[in-house]
Amino acid sequence: MDGVIPKLLRWRGRPMDKSDKGVACTVWVDLGKRSYPVRIGVGLRHRLDEELQRIPGCSKVTVVCDETTAALFADDVEKPLQRAGYSVVRVVVPPGELSKSVAQLENLWRRWAQAQLGRDGVVVALGGGVVGDLAGFAASVYLRGVRWVGMPTTLLAMVDSAIGGKTGIDLPEGKNLVGSFYQPCLVLEDLEVLDHLPPREFRSGMAEVIKYGCIADPSILSLASSGHLSREALTELVARCVQIKAQVVEEDEQEKTGKRMILNFGHTLGHAVEAASGYQKLLHGEAVAVGMWGAALLSHWKSGLSAEELDRIYQALVSQGLPRELPGMNREKVQDALLVDKKKRNHTLRWVLLRSLGSPCIRDDVTPQELERVFEFVFPRGTG
Ligand code: GLY
Repeated sequence: MDGVIPKLLRWRGRPMDKSDKGVACTVWVDLGKRSYPVRIGVGLRHRLDEELQRIPGCSKVTVVCDETTAALFADDVEKPLQRAGYSVVRVVVPPGELSKSVAQLENLWRRWAQAQLGRDGVVVALGGGVVGDLAGFAASVYLRGVRWVGMPTTLLAMVDSAIGGKTGIDLPEGKNLVGSFYQPCLVLEDLEVLDHLPPREFRSGMAEVIKYGCIADPSILSLASSGHLSREALTELVARCVQIKAQVVEEDEQEKTGKRMILNFGHTLGHAVEAASGYQKLLHGEAVAVGMWGAALLSHWKSGLSAEELDRIYQALVSQGLPRELPGMNREKVQDALLVDKKKRNHTLRWVLLRSLGSPCIRDDVTPQELERVFEFVFPRGTG
């Protein structure tokens, strides 16, 4: 990840362009003709009209949100657009993963068709990962592709799903089974919206932040370990994470070289934990936190992560109130979920481990005995 920090330091603490009120920094995702800016700052949800003026040939906007973001932020986004002369159509979907469905895709397409959204249209995904995945995917095939803007409203979406163009829906047979790589033309990240995020959701997002500290930039772990974060510190954390994600996506946009896989640190076990718990009790970030702790232990045993580095990861997780273990978790169910994952991936289970902080590696040689040892630590018996 050479180059991440120097590039970011040039931006830190001052706007890229003095006319960009409220923008603390802009990170470019550099993908040739598909490049786009990620603007990070405060109050940006009120300023989409100004941003759209930089995008030629758009006059109609559809804002896709769920009931929660509709009540909190949709007016803030839409009113300035309407004042600036844009025609705006709002489509509200129910909150939650169930909205990543064929039924909701059809709902969006039909509402857009009824509103005569044409090639001058822009889809705005105002919400968390579910809304971004759904609206981005719907945009990727509507009229063979219309432009879309990501306006993430959760920390998790700001640092991960809103960047990199992975869009898609679930099927009853599995999550994210249908989708596309379809980059947005702009991502607008208004840190003010995070003030409305329930603390548990915020902490869940911090798990992904800590992930970037592990795989690319250990200074993130120091920031995350300081407990409460000022707005300034949060801006810096988000900007660093976005910059890392942008760089990984630039190197492996369509997950072909394996580079993008490093973003899955903690996710092999984390996904299995989510599946084993029926996607109910745990938030994604909580499952990933436990998965990262398992992967960190494996890294210490197998790939050279030092005890001191292991402790830095532990302290960051503790400081953000994230779980490291799940007492009483059904180990057999986690094992079964890992086996399903293994079958799906050509019968090899690939783990992202760390040689040291900031130096990830991919390993497919985790033995059943090593896994059992991880389970002893992260799923202690008899206390849950
Ligand atoms: N969330 C992992 C990725 O975008 O590849």
